[in-house]
Amino acid sequence: MNIRKIIIAIDGYSACGKSTTAKETAKILGYKYIDSGAMYRAVTMYFLDHHVAVTNLHEVKKALASIHISFHVNSKNVTETFLNGLNVEEEIRHMRVSEIVSQVSTIKEVRHAMVEQQRKLGKQRGIVMDGRDIGTVVFPDAELKLFMTANILTRAFRRQKELLDRDYLVDLDEVIENITNRDRLDTTRTESPLRKAKDALEIDTTHITIDEQVDEVLRMAVSRMLKN
Ligand code: DC
Repeated sequence: MNIRKIIIAIDGYSACGKSTTAKETAKILGYKYIDSGAMYRAVTMYFLDHHVAVTNLHEVKKALASIHISFHVNSKNVTETFLNGLNVEEEIRHMRVSEIVSQVSTIKEVRHAMVEQQRKLGKQRGIVMDGRDIGTVVFPDAELKLFMTANILTRAFRRQKELLDRDYLVDLDEVIENITNRDRLDTTRTESPLRKAKDALEIDTTHITIDEQVDEVLRMAVSRMLKN
């Protein structure tokens, strides 16, 4: 039987269950999992820590040349994000980063640098990548493209719980405001805005469990892996 390695691109709004689904799917298939949002978050953290003025293109370009992002799988089989050799997996999820990451992601130079790295990571295929422009820009030739949605309250509760699991209590109103602002910036930016690719399949995760989401994705993935 001919089983080929494919690229699974999962796009959608924040807190729709993209990363949980992507991680679990990658684990079951033995694929690499890449959280492209973590890359934009790492860049944002670097900009904040080094006081890079996001409106100053010269400073942005200089900073980008000093940023190296990598992913490593830890002993618990969890992929963690490293910025210039430092594990930043926890810190990039903090609100100080969440508050301006969408603004940083609108910068063309930032996007070009990230897309280049993301394409390198997917060169061998056998990868699940989640984000906003994976099926439209990064891997327009991905064999499986998914677009995830969910209602705003469900998303806010999920994001709040995710933060709480990291011992970080954030008011629900603050979470809703952050998600709404990011949706607006992500969908209206000029450079590769969040869009559903024409050939992407939409999954509304409001009323389904993570296991159901993963089952659905695996079913679709297997049919593509067997196609010639
Ligand atoms: O997936 P996330 O919420 O951690 O992503 C953080 C931000 O990064 C999101 O608001 C928009 C940006 N992003 C992007 O512009 N393109 C991607 N492929 C992934 C994330």
